[in-house]
Amino acid sequence: MAEDTLSATSITNNLGTRFIGRRVLYYPSLTSTMEVAKEEARQGAVEGTVVIADEQTGGRGRLKRAWLSPRGNIALSIILYPSLSCLSSLIMLASLAVVHSIESTTGLKPQVKWPNDVLIKGKKVCGVLIESDVQRTKVSYSIIGIGINVNLKLADFPEIQPVATSLSDELRKEVSRLSLVRHLLVEVERLYLTLSAGGSLYEEWRSSLVTLGKKVRVTADETVYEGVAESVARDGSLLLRSLDGKLTKIVAGDVTLRD
Ligand code: BTN
Repeated sequence: MAEDTLSATSITNNLGTRFIGRRVLYYPSLTSTMEVAKEEARQGAVEGTVVIADEQTGGRGRLKRAWLSPRGNIALSIILYPSLSCLSSLIMLASLAVVHSIESTTGLKPQVKWPNDVLIKGKKVCGVLIESDVQRTKVSYSIIGIGINVNLKLADFPEIQPVATSLSDELRKEVSRLSLVRHLLVEVERLYLTLSAGGSLYEEWRSSLVTLGKKVRVTADETVYEGVAESVARDGSLLLRSLDGKLTKIVAGDVTLRD
């Protein structure tokens, strides 16, 4: 059985990062790590503070959905104070950090479904929720929330079984959440430093997208678009080519891949 005890010190000890995960707030159970992280950010918590819970009782997903977050999974939020120019790249940063850390911890090869769902063999293994507070031209804070299905038996959760998977279901053995969290934090810092130094994550994120070239249905602000996911813009928006040839730029939405 993999070493799997999460605590502030087990995550922080010898992590080797400069600021991400130097301060960790661990909770056995929370409503949502997003709420605690937001309060911490408003109080001026140091950048890189991580709020992590073994279980969330009111986990939140994108587009006002609920996020199932039982024990055995990873549920964490990271507090950042990025510049406005980095803000749109945080979706790229988060999904790439998850892909890299899953790859290096398990050998599995995840892909990204626009904008930042992480899939394994077409099923969702991780969701990312980014909430930012922007005042005029300054970002007050950004919270990156990451939920990964790690040691979860999908057979126990029939409501999501058709569309979701977990690392343990894929590998048929348990995975160390501690090791995965530590890899993830190191990756988040590496990619964040790249962005802060003016580097780009666009090319790598674009090539990790399973969405491009596929027929898709996109729901955005209660409008449904259908067409081919032709490309993504450098700000992370999806460029959708409809049947009538029109190109639509979609900033946020939910994509269903069609055959
Ligand atoms: C999604 O795919 O809809 C995004 C899911 C994000 C879930 C994570 S779990 C940690 C953090 N706390 C929450 O309540 N949500 C995010």
